[in-house]
Amino acid sequence: MRRFEDQVAIVTGAGSGIGLGIAERLGSEGARVLITDIDGAVADHAAVALAKQGVDALAVAGDTAEEATAACAAAQAMDTWGRLDVLVNNTGIIGNTAPLWELPVSELDRVYAVNLRGTYLFCQKAVPHMLARDYGRIVNMASIAGKEGNPNMTPYSATKAAVIGLTKTLGKELAETGIRVNCLTPAVVRTPIWEQTTQAQMDMLLARIPMRRSGEIEEVAALVAWLASAECSFSTGAVFDISGGRATY
Ligand SMILES: NC(=O)c1ccc[n+]([C@@H]2O[C@H](COP(=O)([O-])OP(=O)(O)OC[C@H]3O[C@@H](n4cnc5c(N)ncnc54)[C@H](O)[C@@H]3O)[C@@H](O)[C@H]2O)c1
Repeated sequence: MRRFEDQVAIVTGAGSGIGLGIAERLGSEGARVLITDIDGAVADHAAVALAKQGVDALAVAGDTAEEATAACAAAQAMDTWGRLDVLVNNTGIIGNTAPLWELPVSELDRVYAVNLRGTYLFCQKAVPHMLARDYGRIVNMASIAGKEGNPNMTPYSATKAAVIGLTKTLGKELAETGIRVNCLTPAVVRTPIWEQTTQAQMDMLLARIPMRRSGEIEEVAALVAWLASAECSFSTGAVFDISGGRATY
């Protein structure tokens, strides 16, 4: 039995990178997958690639930070498939990297809108559909930066810490229902997100990983698949480490 047979999943920011890996993994285990991305062409391309792998897939183009995108994604999933079992809030941006006193506050606003506001909005639109069937799995993509604080990445670190706080709170609010809400905190995984920063910044972060390597998209997707499955039954509001040994708590 495939773990997501008959289930419907939304994965945000899934046109490329870790999100696409998650969509492929959930799809390979039977999920019907709606992917969103700000880049419509990339989203369409990913949906076609998933379909070629035998996955029933839909693409919704839109900015995760906009309420209309979250509403449209939930409505499309319900109109097309009539249920919503899994939400993976994967979208995230690093933003510009520099010490806090050199970053304009507009940079904090920009990163906040995608990383925290977007996660909040997608949870808001998904939870009522999950409550209606008393089942759901929400997986939020935080970061080791949110636990430890990466220098020169204040907007990213602070908003990822906020994603951890949102996860803990929503998990408790829904603990007596069939909905589980968890997050994960990856360290460096080589994807296009690192084009937003410098090689020196990446080298500094890689040096902090005791395994002396970056993570693989497939490794992150495997953890997300468990968190998104019915097997994840006695964990909620929890933070799952995937950092090659960097996290010590
Ligand atoms: N790669 C890493 O080292 C790493 C480490 C820890 C956490 N994470 C987190 O994992 C998640 C995925 O990261 P990634 O490395 O795959 O990123 P990525 O930049 O490689 O891919 C992100 C995708 O999201 C899309 N996107 C960007 N802004 C968007 C928006 N406003 N609305 C909708 N779509 C948008 C992009 O077009 C892209 O397809 C992020 O939340 C990131 O913070 C990544």
